[in-house]
Amino acid sequence: MLYRTHDGLDISEIGIGCYALSGAYGQKDLEAFKAMLRRAYELGVNFFDTADAYGDAEAILGEVVNPFREEVFIATKVGVKDSTKPNLSTEYLQSSCEESLRRLETEYIDLYQIHFDDPETSVKETIAALEDLAGQGKIRHYGLGHLSPPRVEDYLEQGTVFSVLLELNAVARENHRDLLPLCQKYDAGMIAFSVTGRGLLTGKFQEVPTFEAGDIRNLDTFFQRERFQYGLRVMEKLAEIGNRYGKTPAQAAIAWVLAQEGVICALTGPSTIPHLEENLQASGWRFTPQELDEINQFLEEKDERYNQLAEDNVREILTEPLPADPSSAFRDLIYVIETSLRLGMVEESEMMPTFYRLYGLRKELDDQAGPKLSAIQGKLRDLI
Ligand SMILES: NC(=O)c1ccc[n+]([C@@H]2O[C@H](COP(=O)([O-])OP(=O)(O)OC[C@H]3O[C@@H](n4cnc5c(N)ncnc54)[C@H](OP(=O)(O)O)[C@@H]3O)[C@@H](O)[C@H]2O)c1
Repeated sequence: MLYRTHDGLDISEIGIGCYALSGAYGQKDLEAFKAMLRRAYELGVNFFDTADAYGDAEAILGEVVNPFREEVFIATKVGVKDSTKPNLSTEYLQSSCEESLRRLETEYIDLYQIHFDDPETSVKETIAALEDLAGQGKIRHYGLGHLSPPRVEDYLEQGTVFSVLLELNAVARENHRDLLPLCQKYDAGMIAFSVTGRGLLTGKFQEVPTFEAGDIRNLDTFFQRERFQYGLRVMEKLAEIGNRYGKTPAQAAIAWVLAQEGVICALTGPSTIPHLEENLQASGWRFTPQELDEINQFLEEKDERYNQLAEDNVREILTEPLPADPSSAFRDLIYVIETSLRLGMVEESEMMPTFYRLYGLRKELDDQAGPKLSAIQGKLRDLI
C-alpha cells in the first residue's frame, strides 16, 4: 500500500468505506464485513470512512478498529442521520458529534465531514461549530461532502477545510473538473468515492442487473439507459489497458482515479475479503501518461455521443406519459433530475426543492402516487 501525505497526515491511498452497512447495496454478511475491515488494516489501509447515517456502521467500525485505534484515521459524517432535510446548526453538530464519539467508542474523530448541505444554516455558523469541536479535541480535522462548487468555495474561504469528498471514477468526472481548481487554490485534499462505479466498472455486470429491493442502485443512473452502456464501454477501455499489466477491470478503474490530480485517497466499498484484496492491488501500479491520454481521448469521444442520448432521454421522459407503475415512474424522474443536473441543463438551486418533493414520496409509491408524480413531471418540464 502506498501512502499520500496531506496536511502532515500519511493516508493510505486506498481507503475503505462502510456505506454497504446501511443496506445501500443489499443485505451483507456482518461477520464477513468485519473480517474485511480487519484484513484491510493488515494490508496497510489506515483510512476508514463511515457516517452517522449508515445504519450501525459507526458502532461496527468502532468495535473493529478499537485494538488499533491510534494507527488509523476514522472519517465520519454529519447532517442527515434520520431525515432527508439536512441540519448543520451548532446545536445539531454538537449533539451529533457526541453521539458519533459514543458509537465509535473513541475520544476523537480524525475527520468530521459535512454529509449534505443545509441552506438554512450559515456557513459561518457551521464553521464556528466545527472549529469549536476541534478546539475541544473532539475532532481533529473537518471536511465537506455533497456540496455545490459555490458552497464549497464559501467553506474553503471561511474555514480550514482538510478535504472535499466527491464521486469520482472514469464515468463520473464532472465533480472533479468543477472542484479541482478550488481544492488547489485552498489546498484541500480530494477524497474520491464510488471509485468502482458501485461495481459497474468491475466488469461483473454485462446487462442492466435487477438488484434486491432497497438497493440504491435500483435508482442509480449508472445502472440505467444510455449511462449503463456508456459505463460498459468505459470499463472495457480501462480493462483493455489494465490487462496489459495483468490487472483486473476493478484495479484499472481504481488506478485511473488514483492518477487524477488532487486525489489524496480513493475510497472503495467492498464487503468481502476477495473484493478488498482485489481492489487494494490497484495501489502501487500506474498507467503511463500516454495511456492516460489515450483514455481521456476515448472518454471525450464517447461523451459527445452519450450526452446527446442522455439529453434525448430526459426530453422523452418529460414529454411522454409516465409508466403506470409508480416505482418505475419515480426512477425515471430521479434519472431526469440527476441527468439534467449533470449536463448543466438546470441550476442546482432551482432544482433542489423539486428533488426533495420527489424524494419525500419514495416511501409512498402506492396506487395514489400517480397524480403526485405527474405533477412533479410537469414541474420538471417547466424547469428544464
Ligand atoms: N456511494 C456514495 O454515494 C458515497 C457517498 C459518500 C461517501 N461514500 C463513501 O465511499 C465509500 C466507497 O464508495 P462506494 O461504496 O460507492 O464504492 P465502490 O467500491 O465503487 O462501490 C461498492 C460496490 O461495488 C462492489 N465492488 C467493489 N469492489 C468490487 C470488486 N472488486 N468486484 C466486484 N464488486 C466490487 C461492492 O460489492 P460487494 O459488496 O460484493 O463487495 C459494492 O456493491 C463508501 O463506502 C462510503 O464510505 C460513498
